[in-house]
Parts: sequence; C-alpha cells; structure tokens
Amino acid sequence: MTEMITRPRGTRDLLPDETEARRAVEVVMRKRARAYGYREIITPAFEELGLFTARSGEGIIDEMYTFTDKGGRKMTLRPEITAPVLRCYVNEGRSIPKPIKWFYFADCFRYERPQKGRYRQFWQFGIELIGANSASADAEIIMVADDILHASGISYTLHIGDLSLMRYLLSDLSPAEQKMIRTFLDKRNLEGACDYLRERGHHEKITPLQDLTAARSIDELFAVLPDLPERERILQMFSILDSQGVRYTIDPSIARGLDYYTGMVFEGFAEGLGSENQVIGGGAYRLAHLFGGTDTPSCGFAIGFDRVMVARGDLQPPNRPRIFVITTKETQIQGLSVARKLRDAGICTETDISGKGFAGQMSLAAKVAEFAIIIGTEHAGKETLLIKDLLTGIQEEKPLSAVIDQVKEGR
Ligand code: HAM
Repeated sequence: MTEMITRPRGTRDLLPDETEARRAVEVVMRKRARAYGYREIITPAFEELGLFTARSGEGIIDEMYTFTDKGGRKMTLRPEITAPVLRCYVNEGRSIPKPIKWFYFADCFRYERPQKGRYRQFWQFGIELIGANSASADAEIIMVADDILHASGISYTLHIGDLSLMRYLLSDLSPAEQKMIRTFLDKRNLEGACDYLRERGHHEKITPLQDLTAARSIDELFAVLPDLPERERILQMFSILDSQGVRYTIDPSIARGLDYYTGMVFEGFAEGLGSENQVIGGGAYRLAHLFGGTDTPSCGFAIGFDRVMVARGDLQPPNRPRIFVITTKETQIQGLSVARKLRDAGICTETDISGKGFAGQMSLAAKVAEFAIIIGTEHAGKETLLIKDLLTGIQEEKPLSAVIDQVKEGR
C-alpha cells in the first residue's frame, strides 16, 4: 500500500463543526469592527520579501516561508498583515481621506515550532488606523480591541504600556543597545536586561529600569520619569479608557517583538492556553515611509483568531440538516420538488442520494436530521405531507406551508 500523505506540520484541517464555530465568531468580530466604521480589505497571501525585512532586518527570514519565484524574485508568505496593509495604503490609499480605518481577517504563515496555540498557518483578525496621531486614536484602537474580544466570548486581561517611556529612559544608549534591552523585555527577562546594562557599563540605568517595569499605576510611572514629553498624551489616553469603563493593567515592560512600534503598545492574555496565551498584540507605529510613502502615524492590532477559539473551548452544536425527505422509487421526483420548496424557504433539506430503501433512509435520517418528511407510495400526489419529529417520534400530516412554519419556529 502507498504511504498515507499527511498535512504539513503546524497546519490543521478544520472539519465542519470547527469551521462553523469559527465562522460564527468571525461574524461577530466583523460586526463589531464595522460598528466603529472600519471596513474590510484583502491583501495578497504572498509579498516581496523586502516588505518584511525593510524594518525587521534579515534575521526575520528564519521565521518565514520564503521562496524564489520562477522569475527569480524573492518572495514570502505573509507572516503578518500590518506591513501588507501599509504597503497597500502607500500604493493605493494616499488619496483616500484620512484617517483610514481598515480591518482584515486572513491567514498568516510563520516557520515556528508548533505547539498548542502556536501554528505555522494561523489566522489574524486585525485593524489598522492609518493617519491619526492622538490620544483619542490610541484609545479607540484599544476600545475596539476590547469590544471585539469581549464580544467573541472570552475572558482576558489587557496590558497597556508605552514605548516612549523606555525610549526616554534609555535615550543615551545606542540603537543596538536599546534593541537588545527590548528583546530581553519582550522575553520577560528583566534580569537579562539588567545584566546587559551592567556589562555595557550603564549602571545608573538599572534601578530606574527595575522601577519602571514594576510600575503598575500612572503615579508610579511618572515617579520614575517625571518629565517625559509624552506625559499629557498618555494621561489623556488612560483617562478616555477609564471614562469608558475599559479594564486594564499598566505594564511598561511590554516591548513587543516586532520592531515598528513607536508609542502606545498593548497585549492581551487569555486563560487556559498554557504558554501561548497571548491573544492580541498591537500599538502605534510608523511604516509607510519604509515602503516609499510619506511618514504616516498609524496604530492597530491583530487578534490571534485560533487562540480565541481555543480559549472559548466550546464548539457550536453541529448544524444538522433540519429535514430529510424519505421517498420510495415512485415518489422520488415528488420528494425532490418538496425538498426544493423547503430549500427555497431557507430550510436545510437532504434527500437520498445513495439509492437506499425506505428503512435505510429512515435510519440515516434518524442519525443526521431533526425531522423526516415521509412520502410513501400511499402519499403519491397528495397535497399534505407526513412530518415526523425524529427526537420525539411524533408524526402529523399537514400542508407544506404548515411544515415550513413548524420547522422554522423550532418544534
Ligand atoms: P503579533 O503579536 O506578532 O503582532 O501577532 C498578533 C497575534 O497573533 C498574537 O498575539 C497571537 O495571538 C497571534 N499569533 C502570532 N503567532 C501565532 C502562531 N504561530 N500561531 C497562532 N497564533 C499566533 C502582529 O502580528 C502585528 N501585525 C499586530 C499589529 C497590527 N500591530 C499593529 N497593527
């Protein structure tokens, strides 16, 4: 026998129960995003490699599905969608009135070590707000994110920071040194960051860094950096969030792995996901100027859709066909006409397509459907239909219109 071919590592086959459950959550997310005036866009599944190395450097290539196409161009499957959306803005969107409010739902590809909640193909639901630069814009992005995550039925904790704090504190360090500190903090390794500061001779930064990462209130933040230039803006953003009842933890240690963030940053963590519990990441950033556009302030986020589904834990009850029409050879055509009328009325209806006898159809219907319409030879040409509730066993004769009403109303 030939060896069975299996799906690639880190990918999944999503069977109908799971797919239907995912579709239902997608609908909720799209609806909430639209309620704030965001509109959906679609970008290509693959892009020129340079789109992602422009900001993050060649190092990121190890984490991507890169390839050379038949024309010798270096390409990659998209590892995320912010850079593609900003490329699209630079190519197509410059004449659109700003701020531009776009959202997307699409798959991303990262060459990672697969585990629960971490896949090589995964889906992101994200938003980008392009051309707005204010505390209100930062606050709106966080409010939409919070709204969508609550509406999708998970409980999670929201952590908000601002990179201007760390940047101000470390402004005497070289860009490479600052990046190293961000990398340590992104891995939640404060010790490593302090050791690094010690090694590089920046002893005076160690205590402020420890105090800053430990700060959990606005007062504690500004006690470390009393004259931060962005102070007013940060205060204003938190006061908007407070006025709207958004619950969050202040977390100045958020560094975000991607290199493009400039100011406000946030992450969200859900329960029951083990180590891969981050369900959302986002913040304010600048990218357009790297792709040939003018420097444009933007902010946004991406939700790890697969992780939201794991955190929900449930699957929707399988969506059973509601009616199975059972016929004999003589009444088959009549059955097809009845099925068509039921489908036209929006009712999911199946008929026998395997040439089963009456008893075979009955037993299949009992396994897969909620109701059976039985058209035996004695019902040939009759106006009324015999409908059987397959859960209760109750059967009644009624006209098609009454059948439709009964099935649409539930039992
Ligand atoms: P990110 O933090 O790299 O940010 O990804 C966002 C979310 O995608 C993560 O919080 C996580 O839930 C999910 N995710 C990431 N990798 C995987 C994986 N291998 N398997 C399953 N889920 C995963 C971004 O991608 C930025 N583009 C977000 C953004 C938008 N910033 C501004 N606008």
